[in-house]
Amino acid sequence: MITQTVPVKNTVLTPELHSYVLSHCLTPDPLLDDLAAQTRTLIPGQAHMMVAPEQGALLTLLVRLLQARAVVEVGTFTGYSSLCLARGLPLGGTLTTCELSADYAAVARAYWERAGVDDRISLRVGPALDSLRALPSVPHVDLAFIDADKPGYIAYWEELVPRMVPGGLIIVDNTLFNGEVLDADPAPKPAAVAAFNRHALADPRVERVMLPIADGVLLARRLSYADRPL
Ligand SMILES: C[S@@+](CC[C@H](N)C(=O)[O-])C[C@H]1O[C@@H](n2cnc3c(N)ncnc32)[C@H](O)[C@@H]1O
Repeated sequence: MITQTVPVKNTVLTPELHSYVLSHCLTPDPLLDDLAAQTRTLIPGQAHMMVAPEQGALLTLLVRLLQARAVVEVGTFTGYSSLCLARGLPLGGTLTTCELSADYAAVARAYWERAGVDDRISLRVGPALDSLRALPSVPHVDLAFIDADKPGYIAYWEELVPRMVPGGLIIVDNTLFNGEVLDADPAPKPAAVAAFNRHALADPRVERVMLPIADGVLLARRLSYADRPL
């Protein structure tokens, strides 16, 4: 565990400051707004599962920055993050996205069609672990986004890391779990996230940074032999 040895340099994100952040990084997006509203209407009890709008913008930006052609997502839900990922793909790029619920995926499909990105998305309905294991085992994934059941995170990570190209990026959502990763006696979900965070920290195959945006986002870049520290 790294302890704090320099003065803390962070800015507490008040609701007003959060609004400022959003108004200074997002461009109006009626389709994503509509998808979010529809999800809140259809599935009110689970709508909080969608990524935050600023995270969606980050996902699109990262796909574009990496010029990622092969993208994998674990946890589609109603398609908010997959729409953001797919929009960043270059011509010929593909997003493979894994979801357990056919009902949730049906909502996602409708919005992918409306956005005109359905031709580049391959949906795998079923347990994500099976879907990941069915992917080619060689390194071929440029960017992956993990955002499904928390107890599955370590298994998803272990399937994905060997499939990442050198320099490929794994993005993991909810790594702070409402701050509950700090609990002395955490509930099962935050305990699973905390175990995952320890697992990723100890993995010598990646270099990483954790961003305290939304509910915590881990960015982990797959190292190659050329850039492993001696
Ligand atoms: C947090 S939500 C994903 C949110 C989505 N990324 C978005 O931004 O809208 C997690 C999703 O993972 C799905 N899920 C849970 N367990 C799963 C499993 N074993 N295999 C595949 N999907 C699973 C849930 O049905 C749910 O839709």
